[in-house]
Amino acid sequence: MIRSGPPEDTDGPGLPRWPLAWYPVARSTDLARGAITHGALGGVAFVVFRTRSGRLGALTAHCPHMGAHLRHGAVVEDAIRCPLHGWQIDTAGACQGAGARADSRADTWPVSEQFGVVYLHPRSHEPSPLPAPSHPESYRWAAARAIPVKADWRAMMVNGFDMLHLASVHHRELVEPPVVERTADGALRLEYVSRVTGHGASDRVMKAISGNEIRVRQTCYGPTVVVEADLGRTRSCAVLGMLPGADGVQAFGAFGVPRGALSSLRAHLARWLYTAFLRRDFRVIEGMQLRLDGVDDPGVCALASYLRSLETFGV
Ligand code: FES
Ligand SMILES: [Fe+2]
Repeated sequence: MIRSGPPEDTDGPGLPRWPLAWYPVARSTDLARGAITHGALGGVAFVVFRTRSGRLGALTAHCPHMGAHLRHGAVVEDAIRCPLHGWQIDTAGACQGAGARADSRADTWPVSEQFGVVYLHPRSHEPSPLPAPSHPESYRWAAARAIPVKADWRAMMVNGFDMLHLASVHHRELVEPPVVERTADGALRLEYVSRVTGHGASDRVMKAISGNEIRVRQTCYGPTVVVEADLGRTRSCAVLGMLPGADGVQAFGAFGVPRGALSSLRAHLARWLYTAFLRRDFRVIEGMQLRLDGVDDPGVCALASYLRSLETFGV
């Protein structure tokens, strides 16, 4: 295979790269007490850490003293200790140590966790609530390890609203025309009913569970989508969030099944079904250069205009 030429330009057609929204950054179990993770959103580097007492902290990554990267630091009690001169910076950004003044502060970021996934928000105050289905307490949740996908998050989100590929990629056909609407909290929701036409293992299982009528309601909150599936006798839910990086995204997923008998088994089954569905997308989206000229799919058009309406940050 020849590998030469400029890197693929995956810049979406006028879709914002960095909407102001919650971004998943870690699975809760991968950020144990005393652990630190780091990354960048919109060109600004961050660290997220969990204190010894279990609280989450999120700071701009460079120490307010002389700029050392805090990912090389260590968690001490309820603070992160800078690796260079040892300032201790707590979750509110207050600094203590040699040379620290009363007004020495690190920038803090809103950080929260839900259903086993830690999220970060680039706005300093009053972010919107974390994306969630209605009645999340009725589900038993489990978070999966993040899956790296070499694709732009906007191409992946557009895929979720693209009804045309349901037949070609997922071996499903629509039973009713999809309905798309804005929700009261300003997100974009698509509802559709499909049936299975494929014959793979996951197709056969889905057909048997659902009686071959699958009602899906998915709600987009920037780089995160909440998917609620009504399968007749049962239902399931997934909160899928994407963390953009230099080489694609890390796709985080939390999966919920109704509480009750055999919920652990049902959760495994739901996760397998969602993952089998999504892997069909991941295979074809890799390397995609998203184009929307001339596309008239109502879900895709509504998603594009929704994404363009979002406030943005960063570069
Ligand atoms: S650079 Fe962090 S304490 Fe000096
Ligand atoms: Fe898809």
